[in-house]
Amino acid sequence: KPWNGAVHDVFSPVYIETAEGLKQKLIGSYPLATEKEAAEALEAAVNAYHDGRGAWPVMSVSERIHCVEQFTGKMIAQKDIIVKLIMWEIGKSHADSVKEFDRTVEYIYATIDSLKNLDRDSSRFEIVEGIAAQVRRSPLGVVLCMGPYNYPLNETFTTLIPALIMGNTILFKPPKFGTLLHYPLQRAFQESFPKGVVNLLYGRGNVIIPGLMKSGKINVLTLIGSSKVANELKKLHPKVNQLRAVLGLDAKNAAIITSKADIPLTVKEVLTGSLSFNGQRCTALKIVWVHRSIAEEFIAQFSEAVSNLKFGLPWESGVSLTPLPEPDKVDYLNSCIQDAEVKGAKIRNENGGKSKASFFFPAVVYPVNKDMRLYHEEQFGPIVPIVPFDDAEEVIQYLIDTKYGQQVSIFTNDADELSELIDPLVNQVSRLNVNTQSQRGPDVFPFTGRKDSAEGTLSVTDAIRSFSIRSLVAFKMN
Ligand code: G3H
Repeated sequence: KPWNGAVHDVFSPVYIETAEGLKQKLIGSYPLATEKEAAEALEAAVNAYHDGRGAWPVMSVSERIHCVEQFTGKMIAQKDIIVKLIMWEIGKSHADSVKEFDRTVEYIYATIDSLKNLDRDSSRFEIVEGIAAQVRRSPLGVVLCMGPYNYPLNETFTTLIPALIMGNTILFKPPKFGTLLHYPLQRAFQESFPKGVVNLLYGRGNVIIPGLMKSGKINVLTLIGSSKVANELKKLHPKVNQLRAVLGLDAKNAAIITSKADIPLTVKEVLTGSLSFNGQRCTALKIVWVHRSIAEEFIAQFSEAVSNLKFGLPWESGVSLTPLPEPDKVDYLNSCIQDAEVKGAKIRNENGGKSKASFFFPAVVYPVNKDMRLYHEEQFGPIVPIVPFDDAEEVIQYLIDTKYGQQVSIFTNDADELSELIDPLVNQVSRLNVNTQSQRGPDVFPFTGRKDSAEGTLSVTDAIRSFSIRSLVAFKMN
C-alpha cells in the first residue's frame, strides 16, 4: 500500500572509496510501522488462527506442505536479489551469502520431509488398554518470530518455516540489519498462504514489539538474539506461564587445547571457528584455553594464519573478513582490547586490532585472565582471547561458573585424556566438539544450550516439535 509514514534509510556497512573519501551507500528504505499498525497485523494473525478454527490451522498437513513448496519455488526464483541484499546489508561475503540462501532452501525441504515422516506416524491408531488413540501434532496459535542479523534469512527461517508449516499464524519482524532482503519475499508470502497467516512487520522493535507482548495474544515467542531482550519481552506478557518460548541466545564457546593437541589441525579449526563471518556467530569460539606448555607455539602459528586471512569487500573473491554491520561495533571491540591491555594482555598478531571505517582486523589477545572483560563478555566479533591453563580443571570450573552453556571444543590426540574430559565438559554445555570447531550444523542435529544460551531446542525435527503440541483423539473400544 502507499506509505505516508516514517521510513528508515538503510546504509550499507560496506564503505566505498569516492573522491571525497570513504562513503556508505544508501541501499534502500523501509516503512516504520507504528504501534497501531503492529496491532492491526496482530489482529490479522489472531483472526487467521481463529482459535484453531481458521483455514490454516485446520488445513491438512499435505495442503500446508503444498503452500510452503509454492512459496519456496518463488523464493528460489529471487535468489540473486536476496543474495545481493545479504551482502550489502550485513557485509557477508558472496560465498557465505550463497551458502546462507542454499542452506535455507535445504532446511525447508528437510522440514517437509521430516514432517511427512512424523505425519505418517500420527495417522496410525495405537490401541492401549482398550483405548484407540490417534496422536496428532496440533498448532499452538500466534507465533512472534524474530531472527538475528548475522543469519537474517537462514536463522529466521529455521523458526518461521516450522512454526508456519505446523499450522500456526505468524508475526514476523526481520532483524534491524537484514530487513530489506525480506522485501522480495513479501509478495511470495501473500501469494502462497491464506490472508493473515504470515504478517511482516517492518519497524523498530522497541516501538512495535512491547505492545504485541502486552496484548497477551502471542502464544509463542521465538527469537534468535540476546537473552536480555528475550527476558524483557517475556516479562511483558500478562500470562507468561502460557507463553511458549523457543530461543537461541548468547554464548561464549570455549576451545580447550591440551598439551597433546595436533597444533596445525587445531590452528585450522580454531581459525574458522573463531573468525568466520568476522566472529559474528553465536556458535563461534569466543575464548581459547591453551595449555601453557604449548601456548607460544600455538599463538605463533595461529597469528600467522590470521595474518593470511583475506580482508575485503563481500563480492571480492576469496575474502573471509568483511565490514561489520553494527555501527558502534568497532568502538566496542576497541574498548575490550584497551581493557585487556591495561590489565596486562597484548595483541600478538601483526595488524591485529587495526580498523578503518567498518573494517576491523582480527586481534589475537594474550594472556587473558578473569579480570578482563574478554574473559566474560560475548564479544561477537573478530577478537580471539587466549587464556593459558595448567590443569584442565580450570577450564571445567570456567564452564561451570559462566552464565553461558552452548558449546565447547576440545583438541587432543590422547584418547585417555579425551575420555576423562568428555563427561565433565559436555555436562556444562549442549555440544562437545572433538578436534573440530563449534558450529550449529548439520541442521538435523539438535541445537540448544544450557543456562542463558537457549530455551527449547531447534533442528529440523525438534523445531517441528517446538512449534506444536502432541494431542490425542482417543476412542474407547468396546
Ligand atoms: O549465530 C548463530 C548461528 O546459529 C551460527 O550458525 O554455526 O552454522 O554458523 P553456524
